[in-house]
Amino acid sequence: MTQAEAGAEFSLFDDGTMGANPYPAFAALRANAPVMKIGTAGLWAVSRYDDVLRVLRDPATFSSEVSIDVLAGEPARPSMIFNDPPVHTRLRGLLARAFTPRMVELQRPAVQAYCDDLVAALLAQEEADIVAGLAYPLPVMVIANMLGVGDGDLATFKRWSDAIIQNVGVLLMMGDDGSLDGINREFDRYFKARLDKLRAEPEDNLLSGLVHAETDDGTLGEEDLLLICRLLLVAGNETTTGLIVNSVRVFSEFPHVVTELRARPELLESAIEEVLRYYAPFAATFRRATRDVEIGGVTIPRNDRVIPLMASANRDEQQFQRPDEFIIDRDPNRHVAFGMGIHYCLGAPLARMEGEIALRTLLPQIRGLQISREPDAAALLRPGGPDTLFVRFER
Ligand code: HEM
Repeated sequence: MTQAEAGAEFSLFDDGTMGANPYPAFAALRANAPVMKIGTAGLWAVSRYDDVLRVLRDPATFSSEVSIDVLAGEPARPSMIFNDPPVHTRLRGLLARAFTPRMVELQRPAVQAYCDDLVAALLAQEEADIVAGLAYPLPVMVIANMLGVGDGDLATFKRWSDAIIQNVGVLLMMGDDGSLDGINREFDRYFKARLDKLRAEPEDNLLSGLVHAETDDGTLGEEDLLLICRLLLVAGNETTTGLIVNSVRVFSEFPHVVTELRARPELLESAIEEVLRYYAPFAATFRRATRDVEIGGVTIPRNDRVIPLMASANRDEQQFQRPDEFIIDRDPNRHVAFGMGIHYCLGAPLARMEGEIALRTLLPQIRGLQISREPDAAALLRPGGPDTLFVRFER
């Protein structure tokens, strides 16, 4: 196959025909055009495991400051995911200080209680929507809990969360059209009041930990704190929804996985790693070349944007044996679903815990499950997956 033919099979931003099963197209790319220009807008897809790692591990050459403002010569707005050192180092250091293993562990009883309620409600239905019933509410409730958002405020919090998540890509690529101004004002007003309260009366949650964190130059400023609240909403919700949705897809496609996990629950942790590899929720990210750079025999010009395809890297036959098979106890399993290098996912332990508790609650109560309505294929590659995923359980 020529590069042009591989390109014809692959267009990342098309109408979604890739969604249902992009993996044959990724394999064609790895074999024939591992670093390939997409369209005319200066975008390059990188599909091999080693090349994806090289991009993620070299922030000086492959910058996370990708927004349209930066291309126009303006400084990147502080946001952590879309910043390089030193801004990134400072923000990540601050958040990591509060996002400790203890803080994650503190969520366990709440996560278990949410899962008990949500799973019971799902199993009471003949046909249930896994997204609305579990995969979507669970991560939102957990973040809300970590930020100390009260139960009565949860619906508003979800509305903000949806609006911010849905607009983040547009904001980044097309610039700020002001569409989020109203939501941002509401969000800031609410959290400013929360921050004032926490300053006076500390609580045992992540946000309170951040409010009282001592830094070299005193405590954290209000702007930093608001930014971290927004970041947690964006980074932690859709992706974790995707992990739960993708686990369900695997259970429906490979019924023996459910049988085996029921017989050997100790395999659940490695099964979750395999779900992350097999169907990576965060399929790809963005970087910007800071200079003309050669990779895979191709020169990417300065300021072109690079798309490391983690979902493709996770199926690279040079890295994984039998990459298109779901192997419950795959070992080693060095997938890149949580990224790599300085931006490696800070929430990985929390996401793993949420996935593990959700599945450990569901699996003993079912003998199997089947997806009962064709999901929206175009949405399967989005971080949170489709808006609905209906299943029937075998009890
Ligand atoms: C299965 C679920 C998740 C997946 C697959 C995932 C994936 C990722 C990936 C691939 C990155 C790196 C992006 C890049 O390099 O451009 C990342 C970064 C990040 N994630 Fe996650 N994530 C998940 C859940 C979470 C959760 C639950 C949280 C927090 C509540 C979280 C917080 C973050 C943060 C703060 C960053 C930015 C780190 C930095 O820029 O230094 N993630 N995540």
